[in-house]
Amino acid sequence: TDLTCGVDVGGTKIAAGLVDEAGRISGASRVPTPAGDARALARAVAGLVRGLEADLAPGDRITGVGVGAAGFVDRTRSRVLFAPNIAWRDEDLRSVLEEEAGLPVVVENDANAAAWGEFVLGAGRDVDDLLLVTVGTGVGGGLVLDGELYRGAFGVAAEIGHLRVVPGGLPCGCGNLGCWEQYASGSALVRTAREAVATGDPGSSPLLERAGGAVEAITGPMVTAAAHDGDPLAVRLVTDLGRWLGEGIASLTAVLDPAVAVVGGGVSESGDLFLDAVRQGFREQLTGRLHRPELEIRPAELGNDAGLIGAADLARQRPRT
Ligand code: BGC
Ligand code: NA
Ligand code: ZN
Repeated sequence: TDLTCGVDVGGTKIAAGLVDEAGRISGASRVPTPAGDARALARAVAGLVRGLEADLAPGDRITGVGVGAAGFVDRTRSRVLFAPNIAWRDEDLRSVLEEEAGLPVVVENDANAAAWGEFVLGAGRDVDDLLLVTVGTGVGGGLVLDGELYRGAFGVAAEIGHLRVVPGGLPCGCGNLGCWEQYASGSALVRTAREAVATGDPGSSPLLERAGGAVEAITGPMVTAAAHDGDPLAVRLVTDLGRWLGEGIASLTAVLDPAVAVVGGGVSESGDLFLDAVRQGFREQLTGRLHRPELEIRPAELGNDAGLIGAADLARQRPRT
């Protein structure tokens, strides 16, 4: 069987696995993202690929590697031009990796890869136009329009996390002020939770208790778990986050008119409370509501594997019918 290797490179970890045509993953493994340049990163990825090669079943072979990376990827799917939340500037990831791994490589933006994965095998299988929004360290975006991954003139379309939503607002890793990802990401959830607890919000003791009494130890999963258990402060924080996200999706809908918005990333796994708030924010902000067909907001079906599976599918480059 011909398999491709899918790799998801984030700010903290690299996940890799072999993926077959149906999107089934085998041999998944992960390592921490090494600090430093493309060479260090390529070595780490090549190490994962070699590990997967070593464990191949007889009759299987790896035909290529697809990498989803959390940054701006150029039109030729080779270079990471810029990454707001990782120290990469103009890294030629593709050639370094092809050299290290000895296989054809394609590099794509992580959220674009996830959008592609959800379109081919996940929550967007039944539509031609979808917007994917990932809520993690940043806010990532991916667009499938008319059945094609939309990459823009220079490869860096759908950088939706850097839409300015608050003039003169919070500083962003990209260098601008008031970007959407400062208000609607997992990092934003952690920030608002720590702020609420640090300023002595009356409802803050359950969250503080979860964090063992240390404000700085509060994490995103702690807040979503607390919300899940009905802790009022956590419920409010998760709901606010969802509304920020939904309002932004409404603005994007004014431009793109997708059939479906797929919401992925860690926070989206926290379930109905969050997604209902997203839908609520969306409805309140959608221009012309009740006089137009309305898109559906769905959770990512491939969960955290969407980027890996999508990147592997891009590496396969099978002719689509
Ligand atoms: C980056 C995107 C990335 C997203 C999610 C944003 O800050 O600009 O390139 O897709 O985070 O990782
Ligand atoms: Na993108
Ligand atoms: Zn920004």
